[in-house]
Amino acid sequence: MSIFITGANGQLGRLVINRLLSKMPPEHIIAGVRRLESGQPYAEQGISVRLCDYDQPASLEPAFAGVSKLLFISSSHHDDTVRLRQHAHVIEAAKKSKVAHMLYTSFAFPEQGSGPPIPLHLATEHAIRAAGIPFTFLRNALYTDFVGALDLHEAITKGTLRIAPGDWKFNSVTRQDLADASAAVLSESGHHNRIYELTAPTPWTFEDLAAALSSHAAQTVSLYPDPEVRHWIYGFLSKIDTSSTSDDLERLLGRPAASLAQSIAPLIPV
Ligand SMILES: NC(=O)c1ccc[n+]([C@@H]2O[C@H](COP(=O)([O-])OP(=O)(O)OC[C@H]3O[C@@H](n4cnc5c(N)ncnc54)[C@H](OP(=O)(O)O)[C@@H]3O)[C@@H](O)[C@H]2O)c1
Repeated sequence: MSIFITGANGQLGRLVINRLLSKMPPEHIIAGVRRLESGQPYAEQGISVRLCDYDQPASLEPAFAGVSKLLFISSSHHDDTVRLRQHAHVIEAAKKSKVAHMLYTSFAFPEQGSGPPIPLHLATEHAIRAAGIPFTFLRNALYTDFVGALDLHEAITKGTLRIAPGDWKFNSVTRQDLADASAAVLSESGHHNRIYELTAPTPWTFEDLAAALSSHAAQTVSLYPDPEVRHWIYGFLSKIDTSSTSDDLERLLGRPAASLAQSIAPLIPV
């Protein structure tokens, strides 16, 4: 078995590889990196390191040679037009290399969303299907990290969490849970041509967030829906489906997903 992780030095890639190391020998894992030197810590653990740059199509076919499972982590480029081209390079190379099973980190419930990055993820899923590569689409929910864009410092120091008014509901999850679910799919047989909506099992609200912050700060944090709040995050949140849920994540994990309190603990300013 030979499992290739693209974006191996990214936050999600690192967590996936760490989890895989608890399930299989390092010789079964290949870390795809943009600069070979940056893979040295992996090489020291016995993990093969290969060049894998979505902008260098020539690097990709040799990278994927002999790979049985490929975890294709979506590009982090800010421009979705560029990402589309990068993703096409990866898919073409995987097809030529006859990769037996490609897992792709898509976005949860894309059909209900609009605006970037939804078209990119749907187009990439479509291209993988069109290439005839056996796939698993890991439709990752929003990372709970997005909470860091809210003014948690003000919430804790002033006891007021100011938010844009609205009926907000969130199916967000931690990268760690997504990495663990991805590692489960990578290390198990099956999962071919399946789509997993990797969301929290039940949505949480800003009231829940205020309660979690109150509990953390051991003082009341009140919610204040303020029409004057202007933050780009709300424009983004309003264009994606943040409320639909699925039990796919917990089924793959075989345990409960992290609670809201656990998820936000690392984001709270000290
Ligand atoms: N669900 C969500 O809420 C959410 C939020 C943000 C992003 N995402 C998506 O999820 C992906 C993984 O998240 P993350 O937290 O691990 O992001 P991250 O920490 O920014 O890691 C992105 C990885 O992609 C690699 N990469 C970027 N451009 C590349 C290229 N041209 N060729 C090969 N590799 C390239 C980076 O390589 P280097 O290490 O060399 O820089 C890095 O390893 C992101 O890339 C993005 O598409 C999802």
